[in-house]
Amino acid sequence: MISSEEVRKLFLSFFQTRGHKIIPSSSLIPYDDPSVLLTTAGMQQFKKYFTRQKDPMVDFGSQRVASIQKCFRTTDIDEIGDPTHLTFFEMLGNFSFGPIGKDDPKEFGKDGYFKKSAIYWAYEFISQLGLKIDYVTIFEGEKNIPLDNESYRIWEEIGFSSEKIKRRGREDNFWGPTGEEGPCGPTTEIYVNDVEIWNLVFNEYYQDRDGNLSKLEFSGVDTGMGFERLMKSLQNTETIFETDLFQPTRTILENSIKNYDIRRQRIVMDHLRGSVFLVADGLYPSNLERGYILRRILRRLTVNMYFLGIRVDSLENLLKSVVEKYLPFYSELKNFVKIKEVILNEINNFERVLNSSIKEFNKKFRESDSSETIGEKMFFLYTSHGLPLDIGKEILMSKGRQWDRFAQQRFEDLFKKHQLISKGKNE
Ligand code: GLY
Repeated sequence: MISSEEVRKLFLSFFQTRGHKIIPSSSLIPYDDPSVLLTTAGMQQFKKYFTRQKDPMVDFGSQRVASIQKCFRTTDIDEIGDPTHLTFFEMLGNFSFGPIGKDDPKEFGKDGYFKKSAIYWAYEFISQLGLKIDYVTIFEGEKNIPLDNESYRIWEEIGFSSEKIKRRGREDNFWGPTGEEGPCGPTTEIYVNDVEIWNLVFNEYYQDRDGNLSKLEFSGVDTGMGFERLMKSLQNTETIFETDLFQPTRTILENSIKNYDIRRQRIVMDHLRGSVFLVADGLYPSNLERGYILRRILRRLTVNMYFLGIRVDSLENLLKSVVEKYLPFYSELKNFVKIKEVILNEINNFERVLNSSIKEFNKKFRESDSSETIGEKMFFLYTSHGLPLDIGKEILMSKGRQWDRFAQQRFEDLFKKHQLISKGKNE
């Protein structure tokens, strides 16, 4: 079975051979892009090369680069625990900034390239790995953006029949921009085992803050292949959490806990890894913006550890399992002492809030409570014990109850009333 370490090497050398300069991952904290809180895609560190505010020939000596980028997305945070969603993940990507040269996949130079090379190489790399593509998708066109006939023809030339080249609209096959503005364009996407594993974006446009599109001076290529999803296909595992990327952490969890709640175990694996990388990149938990993202995942980690019966003092080994797996590729993880200290400090503080909230919850909660009553009790815990609602929902779930829209409505009504009262007091 191929390991993730081997795939990293294969990917980078495949594109290096084809004229790409290999660029290390940038930090999860974008250094010059105020439009986003965290790095969410491989192309983010290259935005200014697509817009020619920076010159790739000067900085990289090539119009082509490839990278394995650390990414963090919070959009799916509530889905974490299912077989495929993550907050932190790595993205394998190859990029071309233009001007476009011959766009010949047999040509291994340094010029910009476009659809033909990008598609042929993606097909070749996937085939080299021994994976079978189920089908691909292309952009079907919308308003003033035309159908991507060129990608269609290229897939056809490779040997895909028309049933295997599906047409999709803007929601599925048009990517970007990251944040409020930036390069974007139609995509062609590759599906293996019915899961999208590689997204090839043809950056032809720039979208401004008002949503207007204009043509970029040079069309570019921005591809993103989710590493964990790729490894799931290659290692033929049921979920991404059984791939070798999570194996050291999973082994500790399996050996140390008696609670088999698989959803919570996956949340712990995801949040441990994500928080280690955020702290390694210099983030501290706080109540503001990106600091709050870290605080939130550390709190969710604490609560899920609590319900799995994982003691905080076993955290050190879990953190170590993440750091040891990734240190060969990310030197920022070498300061284990600091990573451990920041994470443990936050978790210890929050554990106190959690313990007192759970005690209070157990005192107040009745099996017979209506949804509205649950909404009221949760509001009380929020205002008097500082228990965040999403953590309250987790506690509720551990009692076999769901947070429904009636509970939510009651909570919101009380919240609004509370705000009005405090506003009145301050005026
Ligand atoms: N930039 C391509 C992707 O994130 O899928």
